[in-house]
Amino acid sequence: MKVQVCIIGGGPSGLLLSQLLHLQGIETILLEKYSREHVLSRIRAGVLEHGFAKLMREAQCGERMDREGEIHKGFHIAHDGVLDHVDLYKYSGGNSVIVYGQTELTRDLYEARERFGGKVVHNAEDVALHELKSDKPYVTYRLGDETLRVDCDYVVGADGFHGVSRKSIPKDVLREYEKVYPFGWLGVLSRTKPVSPELIYVKHDRGFALCSLRSQVLSRYYIQVPLTDKVEDWSDDAFWAELKRRLPEKVAADLITGPSIEKSIAPLRSFVAEPMQYGKLFLAGDAAHIVPPTGARGLNSAASDIYYLYHALLGHYKKGDDAGLAGYSERALARIWKAQRFSWWMTMLLHRFPDRLAYDDQLQRTELGYLFSSESAMRQLAENYVGLPF
Ligand code: APR
Ligand code: PHB
Repeated sequence: MKVQVCIIGGGPSGLLLSQLLHLQGIETILLEKYSREHVLSRIRAGVLEHGFAKLMREAQCGERMDREGEIHKGFHIAHDGVLDHVDLYKYSGGNSVIVYGQTELTRDLYEARERFGGKVVHNAEDVALHELKSDKPYVTYRLGDETLRVDCDYVVGADGFHGVSRKSIPKDVLREYEKVYPFGWLGVLSRTKPVSPELIYVKHDRGFALCSLRSQVLSRYYIQVPLTDKVEDWSDDAFWAELKRRLPEKVAADLITGPSIEKSIAPLRSFVAEPMQYGKLFLAGDAAHIVPPTGARGLNSAASDIYYLYHALLGHYKKGDDAGLAGYSERALARIWKAQRFSWWMTMLLHRFPDRLAYDDQLQRTELGYLFSSESAMRQLAENYVGLPF
C-alpha cells in the first residue's frame, strides 16, 4: 500500500494529525499496536488548554468537548494551612482551560476517523521503520500471520514514550534528557461528586495531593506516594484517609468518598529527545517528550507538535514549501522546553522530596508566598497553565 503519510500510534497525537490531514485531502494510514478498547481503557489526564481545544474544533471533533467539557477559569493551591486561589482568567488576559477527559477526547477522535472513512489499523504488531534517510521510506507491520508494507512520503512517530519510532533513530544522532522524580502519583477515579468545582493542588508535609474531576459526578484524586508502593498496598479506605489528612480541614470535611472505579500508580518523569526529526521521520507527542503531570501539560505539549507538523505538511503538499518540515524540530522543541520548565517548576514547588534539606523547605515556602503576593508571578503561572501561544 502507498499513502502520503504513515502515522504510527493511535493516541491523541496520531489521531488528531490524521484527522486534520484527512480534511485537507492528504492521505494517511494510522497503525496502532493495540485494540481500540484497550486504548480507550487507559485513564489519563483531563485538562485541555485552549490551543488544543481549538485544534479539536478545526478537526471537526470539538462538538462533545464543547458540550460536556467544563470551562475552568481558575484553580486552588492549598499550602501551609491556607487555600489560595489562582485566577487564570484574570492573569492570563481572559483565557481558561477545559476539563474534559483524555479518554473521551480519544474516543471522539476515533469516532471521527471512522465517520470520515480513515484508515486505522489496530493490533498492528512488530511495526518497523525502514529507509528513513531515503526518498522511499516504508513501514512494515504484522497483522496476525501476515506481514504488510506501507510505502509513504513521510513517517510520523506518534507512538508514545514506549513506542518504536524514537528507537529507530540511531543512538549517535539522538540526544536524550531525562529527570526521574523520586515518587509517584497514586490516582483514584470515583463516581462521586467532586469536592470542589475547581481543581485543588495541595502541598502538604505528608506529600502532594490533587483534587480533580472529570464531571460533576466523576472525581479524580491523587496522592504522592513512594516509588516502592504498590497499588495493592492501598485499599480504598487507606487512600481516602490519607487524602483527607493532606487536605485543608474544611475541604476534608466536605469530601465525599466512594468505591474506586480505577486505581493506579504513575511514576513522574521529565524527558526530551532531540532532534524530533530524522530523515523522513517526524516525532510528535509522548514519543519525543514526557512531563510530570503536575502542570497538566502532557496532552498540551503534544498539541503544539501536531499544530507545527500539520502546517509543515500542508506547506509541503499544498505549496511545495519544505521550510516548515525543515524547521519542525527546532520550532517544536522551543515550546516543548517551556512546557518542561513549567512542569518541573510546579513539581518542585508542591512535592515533598525525600532527601530535601530544611533550606529546600524554606525555599518552597518562600516561592509560594511570593507567588500569592506578586501579580507578575501570578501572570507567569497563569499564562503557562492556560498554554503559551503556538
Ligand atoms: N506500534 C504501534 N503503536 C504503538 C507502538 C508500536 N510499536 N507503541 C505504542 N503504540 C501506541 C500506543 O498503544 C498508544 O495508543 O501509540 C499510542 C501512543 O499514544 P500516547 O501514549 O497517548 O501518546 P500521544 O498520542 O503522544 O499522547 C500524548 O499526553 O497526557 C499525555 O501521556 C499523555 O497520552 C498522553 C499524551
Ligand atoms: C487529572 O484530572 O487527571 C489531572 C488534572 C490536573 C493535573 C494532572 C492530572 O495537573
